[in-house]
Amino acid sequence: MDPEIVPASDSAIARAAQLLCAGELVAFPTETVYGLGGDATSEAAVARIFAAKGRPRFNPLIVHVPGLAEAEPLAVFDERARNAARRFWPGPLTLVLPRRASGGLSLLASAGLDTVALRAPAHPVAQQLLRAAGIPIAAPSANRSGRISPTTAAHVAAELGSRVALILDGGACPVGLESTILDLTGPVPALLRPGGVTLEELREVFGSIATPAVGEHPPRAPGSLPSHYAPSLPVRLDALEARPGEALLAFGAEAPPGFAEVRWLSRSGDPTEAAANLFAALRQLDRAEFTGIAVMPIPERGLGHAINDRLRRAAAAKAPR
Ligand code: TXA
Ligand code: MG
Repeated sequence: MDPEIVPASDSAIARAAQLLCAGELVAFPTETVYGLGGDATSEAAVARIFAAKGRPRFNPLIVHVPGLAEAEPLAVFDERARNAARRFWPGPLTLVLPRRASGGLSLLASAGLDTVALRAPAHPVAQQLLRAAGIPIAAPSANRSGRISPTTAAHVAAELGSRVALILDGGACPVGLESTILDLTGPVPALLRPGGVTLEELREVFGSIATPAVGEHPPRAPGSLPSHYAPSLPVRLDALEARPGEALLAFGAEAPPGFAEVRWLSRSGDPTEAAANLFAALRQLDRAEFTGIAVMPIPERGLGHAINDRLRRAAAAKAPR
């Protein structure tokens, strides 16, 4: 059965909110990627999310709220956390905080942890949906587990099919990368996942931020396993010349010759534009007719950090043939 994709009109958003309150799953756009939403106070709805994603149970989910007022009953906010929310919400920043037992959140949503990941998305459709539903919404990216995050409604339909009751179509996601995850449960803020808010922006607010050392995988988010962002084809990084049958993800004005197909992340060399194109481009090139996906070097500045993080995971999942 095909899923129902509807443009995100007022009436469609109202219907989606009703479905969420009834324990059904709804896919919706955020500024980062599409989310697979379910009632975060319902264990059954959250269990359905895991089932629909085929996701390992130990991966906790991000809980979405309209803003700080709705978040405070769910977790313990210290002054740092309030500052972060005031500065970056609504927007692509997820905060990991101590969970309040009185908040009524599903335990499964936190996968047994006594912390919870909270985020207030900026996308107007997400905002309207969250306010209409009036309940916190657990929403992982709307892909099957271990696959690329969807940035259009059509990607969601291809990933989840009839596992979702309704897909709200709000067009392509403007950021195109998942939210940054910042753990504020320890004395020093720790970056668990790079994303839409850059390390530079966080350092302006917090000064020092603990980051996973290069080549290590320490306090990373449990779900950020090396294979988490894997296309089916092998991925080869820092490619400067073609190998037979490869497709190319290009960055910058000039692409080396000889590739079977070329998709540009950004012709002007803009990491923000590259981030917005990343998952769609990977998806377009992830076809059996190619031997692999080669990626040109992408500088480690701004969102380049997050893009390279995603691509390294994809490359680690499958070495080139
Ligand atoms: O941009 C986003 O964050 C998107 C949109 C839909 O909001 N959501 C998203 O969710 O990327 P998901 O489930 O694909 O990734 C959530 C990440 C996982 O790596 C998970 O392990 C981590 O958040 N996470 C969730 N709760 C956590 C917690 N309590 N402590 C540490 N990491 C947590
Ligand atoms: Mg995901």
